[in-house]
Amino acid sequence: MPNMSKYRRILRPILFSISPEAAHTLTVEACRVAGNLPFLPRVSKALLTFEAPELESNVAGLHFSNPIGLAAGWDKSGRAIRMLDHLGFGFAEIGSISARPSSGNPKPRLFRLKQDLAIVVNYGLPNEGVEVVAHRIADHASNFPIGVNIVKTNDGPDALACSGDEILADYERSVSMTHRHATYITLNLSCPNAKGGVDFFACPGSISSLLDCLSPLSIGCPVFLKVAPNPAPCILEHLIQQAEPYGFVKGLMFNLPPGKPPSLTLTTDRSRLEHMPGAVSGKPVETLINLCIRELYRRMPKGRFDIIGAGGVFTAEDAYKKILAGASLVQIYTALVYEGPGVVKRINRGLVDLLRRDGFSNIREAVGADAH
Ligand SMILES: Cc1cc2nc3c(=O)[nH]c(=O)nc-3n(C[C@H](O)[C@H](O)[C@H](O)COP(=O)(O)O)c2cc1C
Repeated sequence: MPNMSKYRRILRPILFSISPEAAHTLTVEACRVAGNLPFLPRVSKALLTFEAPELESNVAGLHFSNPIGLAAGWDKSGRAIRMLDHLGFGFAEIGSISARPSSGNPKPRLFRLKQDLAIVVNYGLPNEGVEVVAHRIADHASNFPIGVNIVKTNDGPDALACSGDEILADYERSVSMTHRHATYITLNLSCPNAKGGVDFFACPGSISSLLDCLSPLSIGCPVFLKVAPNPAPCILEHLIQQAEPYGFVKGLMFNLPPGKPPSLTLTTDRSRLEHMPGAVSGKPVETLINLCIRELYRRMPKGRFDIIGAGGVFTAEDAYKKILAGASLVQIYTALVYEGPGVVKRINRGLVDLLRRDGFSNIREAVGADAH
């Protein structure tokens, strides 16, 4: 595992010696610069990619060369878009982006929980706004699947509360400007750290209102809904009921839970956590997200929706668990921070071994195999 050990031995100590947000900005900028160089992207792709026919699949009418994707929140404004298809991923999701630019929450707003293999995130959706990002996506000609994650603009803590119509109009503007350029769109309906959208989408029928509002756009790509992770049967059934009538909604996914709910397995001292506002990503959310995936898969009309699973995936075994529970695709974020980009290739290679061990000839056959 030369990539992993080099990252952990050399790069990670350097990145971990600066603030989490500075390290994040630095790596995105490094990728942006690298993506514009003549040879580096191709070298990177050759080093970081693992291909196998077992990993190829069609999901929501799209082709994926492997099931491991970059989760939303790493390249928030698509700055490194030219490099994303050279890191070994089968797809990447940029955003969350919003109708208007936002500077997000006050700093510090990102914290490492090293002993828990986790991050506390309180970014509050900083991004350059849909106009800038839509141009970036439109200018990037590539077959690599790029999802665009859309959220309501965070106008800051002092902004007046938005009406329901204003929230819908915000989403509508972003979707209308991106759906012709994106491979797929994710509607982020549950940002744990921003006021405005959270309460709105907890209200019964609010998702239907948004989908009604988007229907006249004749959206040209599949849409996924990213919701709060709540495994309660009535919540999942209401979600499915609301999404089902809209043919353009092809899939569902779960975001991080807000705050530090007791369902998270955290070993970091609670007194330390008090100084870290925000939601927890990485290992502590894995059990909750896997439960949500399994419960959702069991209730979904088969063949109607696909699930993208994200939360605490560090190894092939972790990714496989999500696939067996019902996820057709898997995303990672926190593992990149702790393990470096070599983790994508390791997961894909390991997945092929696990599929062969269990007698599956393709990843599609394994989706949901453990959910019943
Ligand atoms: C620093 C950070 C920023 C994130 N920003 C977003 C975001 O803007 N939109 C979104 O839908 N999810 C966001 N997420 C959630 C991730 O997309 C993903 O669902 C979550 O982190 C679980 O995956 P992981 O455990 O592999 O990190 C963010 C996560 C982190 C750690």
